[in-house]
Amino acid sequence: MEVEQLEREAGNMTSTIAASTAGASAANPSAPASPAADYLVLSNIAKTFIARGNATNALSATNLTIGQGQFVTLVGPSGCGKSTLLNLVAGLIEPSEGTITIGGAPVRGTDRRIGYVTQADNLLPWRTLRDNVAFPLELAGVPVAERRERADFWMHRVGLAGFGDAYPSELSGGMRQRGNIIRTLIYGPPVILMDEPFGPLDAQTRIVLQDLLLSIWEESRSTVLFVTHDLSEAISLADQVVLMGTKPGRVIRCENVGIERPRDIFQIHEHPEYRRLYKQIWNDLGAQVKKAVE
Ligand SMILES: Nc1ncnc2c1ncn2[C@@H]1O[C@H](COP(=O)(O)OP(=O)(O)OP(=O)(O)O)[C@@H](O)[C@H]1O
Ligand SMILES: [Mg+2]
Repeated sequence: MEVEQLEREAGNMTSTIAASTAGASAANPSAPASPAADYLVLSNIAKTFIARGNATNALSATNLTIGQGQFVTLVGPSGCGKSTLLNLVAGLIEPSEGTITIGGAPVRGTDRRIGYVTQADNLLPWRTLRDNVAFPLELAGVPVAERRERADFWMHRVGLAGFGDAYPSELSGGMRQRGNIIRTLIYGPPVILMDEPFGPLDAQTRIVLQDLLLSIWEESRSTVLFVTHDLSEAISLADQVVLMGTKPGRVIRCENVGIERPRDIFQIHEHPEYRRLYKQIWNDLGAQVKKAVE
C-alpha cells in the first residue's frame, strides 16, 4: 500500500475516532431506565453519488427506527447500500434527502456518540496492537498507564493477551479483526456501527466471536447496527433484522427476532423461531440477491 494512501486512511480514521471520543471519558450509559423506542431514526433518506458524470442512486426512500439498546442487523445483496447507510449514520457522508437523528438530535458530521467498526480492518501498521487498541483513548487524552491497562484488559478479553507488542502484519486476519473491534469497544460509545466485522473469518472463529460480542453487548446494551451478508448471523445476533433490497437500495422489511436472551449462539439454529425466520427472510433475500446480479 502506498504511504500516501496509508496516511490518508490514518487521517480519516483519526478524524472519525477523534469526533467519536471527544466525550470518551463519559461512561457508556448502561441499560437506560426507559430506553427510547425511537432513538436512532432515519427519515426518508436518499443518497445519490455522482462519479465521472454518472449518478448512482445508492439509497432511496429509506426509513428506519431503532430503539435505544437494540441490536439490529442489516442484510441485503452486495451493492444495496448497507455501507452507505452506515456511513450516513456515522456522519461521514451527507444524505441527498432526509434526516438522521440520534436521541432526537440530528447527526451533522462525525458524531462523538458513534463508534464505527468499518468493513476493512484499518489498524495502523506502524503501531503495535496495544497502541492501536488504545488509540481512541490517546486521542481523548487518557493518561498512558490507564490506556495500557484498559487496552490489556480488552486484549485479554478477546484472546489477544500477550500480543500487545506485535504489529498488525505479525497477526492473523482473525486477530487483527478482534483488535479492530475492541478499538471501538474500549471507549464505550452508546451507538456502535459494525460493517461485516466477521466477514473475512472462517466459520468457527466467526461463531466464537459472535458469542463473545453478544456477551459484551449484554453488559453495555449499546445500540448496535451490524451489517452482514450472512442471514444466520443476522438472526442469531439481532433483536431486529432489517432486510434491504436493491435497484434502488432501500429497506424492504424489518423482522423482530423473538428469541430469548442470553442466547446460546452454538445451539440457536435448533430454535423453532430461528428456523421460521430464516425461511421467511431467505425467500425475499434470495430474490434480491438474484436481482442484484441480473
Ligand atoms: N463514494 C462513492 N461514489 C460513487 N458510488 C458509490 C460510492 N460509494 C458507494 N457507491 C455506490 O453505491 C452503491 C451502494 O454501495 P455500498 O458500498 O453502500 O453497498 P453495500 O451494500 O455495502 O455492498 P457490499 O455488500 O458489497 O459491501 C453501489 O452501487 C456503489 O457503487
Ligand atoms: Mg459494504
